Amino acid sequence: MGTGLRVERDYSLRECNTFGVEAKAAYYARVTSREELAALLQDNPVRDREKLVLGGGSNILFTRDFDGVVIHNAIGGIAVVEQGDREAVVEAGAGVVWHDLVLFCLERDFGGLENLALIPGSVGASPIQNIGAYGVEMKDAFESLDALEVATGRVRTFGPLECCFGYRNSVFKQALRGQYIVLAVRFRLTTRDHRVVTSYGALQEALRARGIEHPTPRDIADAVTEIRRQKLPDPAELGNAGSFFKNPEVSQEQYEALKREHPGLVAFPTPGGAKIAAGWLIEQCGWKGKRVGNTGAHARQALVLVNYGGATGREIYALAQEIQASVLARFGISLEMEVNLV
Ligand code: FAD
Ligand code: EPU
Repeated sequence: MGTGLRVERDYSLRECNTFGVEAKAAYYARVTSREELAALLQDNPVRDREKLVLGGGSNILFTRDFDGVVIHNAIGGIAVVEQGDREAVVEAGAGVVWHDLVLFCLERDFGGLENLALIPGSVGASPIQNIGAYGVEMKDAFESLDALEVATGRVRTFGPLECCFGYRNSVFKQALRGQYIVLAVRFRLTTRDHRVVTSYGALQEALRARGIEHPTPRDIADAVTEIRRQKLPDPAELGNAGSFFKNPEVSQEQYEALKREHPGLVAFPTPGGAKIAAGWLIEQCGWKGKRVGNTGAHARQALVLVNYGGATGREIYALAQEIQASVLARFGISLEMEVNLV
C-alpha cells in the first residue's frame, strides 16, 4: 500500500466500543489522514468488502462479529479557519475527541458547544445523529462538513440543509446511510455576546445552586460536566452507550390522552406535541436498577443500559427488546433505538 498503513485480521473490537462487548472484525485499520483513508479504500482486501466506520465506539452495540472492514477514523487536527469580529469558524478532523474540541473552544472563549461538554466520542460521529444535550444540538453551531463518498472516493462538502438534521437524526442515518465517511466538521461559534442556553431544567438548577446569574460558556460547561458526572455512568467503569433509546415524540392529542391516563408522565413540549421521557417510561415498567444476568438498566438513569462485566451484545440487545415490549404493552409507545446495532 506504500503508506505504512496496517490492515489487521480477526481484530478484537472489545476496546473499540464503550459497552465493552467482545466482537471480531474480519479486517481492521486505523487511518490518521485523508490520504491513508483513500489508499485503504483502494486496497485489495478492503475494496470489495462491507465497511464500518468507528470513532469512539460510544454509540454502537455489536451483537455479532463483523465480516467486513472496520475503519477506525483517527484523522486529527483542530484549527480556527475564520475569525471575524463576532464569530469564528473552527474546523476539526473527524478523529478528534469531541470533548477536546469543546475544551479548545472554551480556552479561546468561543461560544456554542459548551452545553455539549463531555459527550463521549469523536467529532466525525457528531453529525451522524446530531448529538445533543442540555438544550443544544450540534446543528445549532454546525457550519459544514467534508465527507468522502465510499463508492467513488470523491470528497463532498455538505451544508446544514443537505444534512437534514433532526432529533438524533441526519441524512447519514437515513438516505445516505453507510455511503459517506466524515473527514472534517466546521462549526460557527460566537467570539463575544454569547447566546448562552440555560433553558434545560437540570442546568438552571445547577447554575442557581452555584449562584451564577449571567453564565459564561465556561460556567455552562462546568455545570453540565457536574450534572453528567452525577447522572451518567462512566464507560471506563461500567460499559454503556449513553441513552439506549430515543425519547419518543408524540402528537399533542396523544400526549393529552397519555397524560390523562398517567398523570405523572414526564414530557417536554415540541412544536408538534411532546417528547416523552423514555427514562420515565422504562422506570414505570420496573426496570430501573434491575439487573438481568450481566446487564441491566442503570440505577440512576433507566434509559442507560449497562454491561456489569462479561455481557454479550446479544444479551444487551435481548434486554433492550424486553424493555421495548413492556413499554409498548403498558403505554402503547414503541421505543426506537438510538444506539447503532451491528
Ligand atoms: P461511534 O460509536 O464510533 O459511531 C456511531 C455511528 O456513527 C456508527 O454508525 C458509525 O458507523 C458512525 N460514524 C462514526 N464516525 C463516523 C465518520 N467519521 N463518518 C461516518 N460515520 C461515522 N449522545 C448525545 O447525542 N448526547 C449525549 O448527551 C450523549 N451522552 C452520552 C453519554 C455516554 C456515557 C455515552 C457512552 C454516550 C453518550 N452519547 C450521547 C452517545 C455518543 O456519545 C454519541 O452518539 C457520539 O457522537 C458517538 O461518537 P463515536 O465517535 O463514539 O461514534
Ligand atoms: N427520568 C425518570 N427516570 C429515569 C430517567 C429519567 O423519571 O430513570 C425522567 C426525569 O423526570 C428526568 C427526565 O426523565 O427529569 C429527563 O431525564 P434526563 O435529564 O436525564 O434526560 P433524558 O431525556 O433521559 C436526554 C438525552 C441525553 C442527554 C440529556 C440531557 C435522549 C435520548 N437522551 O436524556 O443524551 O444527555 O437528555 O440533555 O435524548 C444520549 O443521547 O446518549 C444521551 C445521554
